[in-house]
Amino acid sequence: MKPVVLGMPYSRPLADQLTALLGAEAGEIEVRHFPDGDSYVRVVGGSGVVNERDAIIVATLDRPDDKILPVWFLADTLREFHAARVGLVCPYLPYMRQDRRFKDGEAITSVSFAQMMSRHVDWMVTVDPHLHRHKSLSAIYGVRTEVVHAAPLVSDWIRGSVDNPLIIGPDEESEQWVASVARAATAPYIVQRKRRSGDRSVAIEMPDTQGYRSKTPVVVDDIISTAHTMIETVKELRRRGMKPPICVGVHGIFAGDAFTELERAGAVAIVTSNTVNHESNRIDIGNLLLPAIHRMTAASQ
Ligand code: R5P
Repeated sequence: MKPVVLGMPYSRPLADQLTALLGAEAGEIEVRHFPDGDSYVRVVGGSGVVNERDAIIVATLDRPDDKILPVWFLADTLREFHAARVGLVCPYLPYMRQDRRFKDGEAITSVSFAQMMSRHVDWMVTVDPHLHRHKSLSAIYGVRTEVVHAAPLVSDWIRGSVDNPLIIGPDEESEQWVASVARAATAPYIVQRKRRSGDRSVAIEMPDTQGYRSKTPVVVDDIISTAHTMIETVKELRRRGMKPPICVGVHGIFAGDAFTELERAGAVAIVTSNTVNHESNRIDIGNLLLPAIHRMTAASQ
């Protein structure tokens, strides 16, 4: 039986794309807020829409606090309507960075969020979650998860769009990822050191770049949030008289004025994937998600 794909309103373009690629059926939902702020969720067509079929919710969860309750209400309703399995395609997975107690008394939200999510869905597919101290999603999620890696697409974009690139990694923890992007883009790379002392306070130490003055610097990162990691990197490259840098992020969150600030710092181009909708989206992850979704739905047959 064909799965039914239900896209949250902010993820409709990707949901439509996946519906077509999967040869699935599009489910219609109504999601809004009551005047008092409570969420309203409706599966148009009611229980007959999903009966015994796989239901796939598509929801990218940047700025998650307003978005997550409707997703869970929808998942619970689909289960009540006898969906065979309820899966979530969540191209950007939030709450991954608070992966330990940095200060006494802090909530370890990555773990709490994973436990809550695992109560509502049967499987989840996501793109490059921020795995640092948690080595895999299965360490914190109690349901089947699959991670899809955007590195090959980032490399393809660089290879096709940048002449003579030098890849720059933001911090030592990103080295493996940066090395694989550089290898596939057939470009050299360097990795800097980073120290963050506050949400918007980042200090970097960049290795020697003398030998790379003819190259186009391409700063790559998994997430651009406040953009301060990128801003400090771009400023340092400009100080050194390097060519105007290009910034590439898998997930472009761009909190507040981050995008404009990064442009003002001197980034000549800013490119992201469509895991989060943004004007900088140039890298399409639709096809990348397909095999993982197929594996999840096949496993549930
Ligand atoms: C951190 O470890 C990540 O890889 C990114 O470098 C970080 O999330 C970027 O954040 P921001 O844009 O706020 O500097």
